[in-house]
Amino acid sequence: MNPLNHVAIIMDGNGRWGLKNKKSRNAGHKAGLKTVETIIKASIKNKIKFLTLFAFSTENWKRPKKEIKYLFGLLENFLRSKIDDLNKQNIKLKFIGNKNFSIKLNKLLNSAEKKTYNNKTLQINLALNYGSKDELLDAFKNMQRKKIKVNEKNFIKYLQTKDMPDPDLLIRTGNTNRLSNFLLWQLAYSEIFFEKKLWPEFKEKDYNKILKKFKLIKRNFGNI
Ligand code: IPE
Ligand code: IPE
Ligand code: MG
Repeated sequence: MNPLNHVAIIMDGNGRWGLKNKKSRNAGHKAGLKTVETIIKASIKNKIKFLTLFAFSTENWKRPKKEIKYLFGLLENFLRSKIDDLNKQNIKLKFIGNKNFSIKLNKLLNSAEKKTYNNKTLQINLALNYGSKDELLDAFKNMQRKKIKVNEKNFIKYLQTKDMPDPDLLIRTGNTNRLSNFLLWQLAYSEIFFEKKLWPEFKEKDYNKILKKFKLIKRNFGNI
């Protein structure tokens, strides 16, 4: 059975779920938060050590202002109301992506990271204003600036995912088969599952089904 340390998820399909069921995309984003909580709990039950969740991409700024505002409002509320609970569950929270938000939001993100820094049960990486191309270019630029030799061993220290293993498994919900600029380097050898269900309708049993399948895959890493 394959060890499973790191699961990455592209939480896609909120907007379509909201439009279909509540006539509003934003209602879908709100419903999606429940799935986030379910998957966090299920990840702990399955003894997963790292869970990386794609919440907002560098390309998502193209969306209507109203939707962006709503999404960041949800995020703020979630953090303010759940941080103590996450902390009690011994969860470490880390944000990946470019943190060039308002001073107020940056303060909230930094304080959530600081509060949970020493927690050990599960590390959640929340990808916010994250784009893999930006991450890779920043890594190259920083290495060039510091005159560091570019090789794999050095390079991975300049990624935002330094100090963690690459995802063993990537799940994308929402019946869409693409990576959308997510962890392009880190997913080089991940097992990929594209799930038809939209994120708000993705349940613990759907997650467990994927985990079970993953464990039985023959992972070659180029070998035979
Ligand atoms: C994913 O759901 C959440 C974010 C990108 C913030 P979408 O909002 O992309 O939902 P669909 O794909 O439009 O249904
Ligand atoms: C990817 O979903 C980003 C997140 C889930 C946060 P999108 O819905 O933005 O992806 P595209 O634009 O359809 O590729
Ligand atoms: Mg989408």
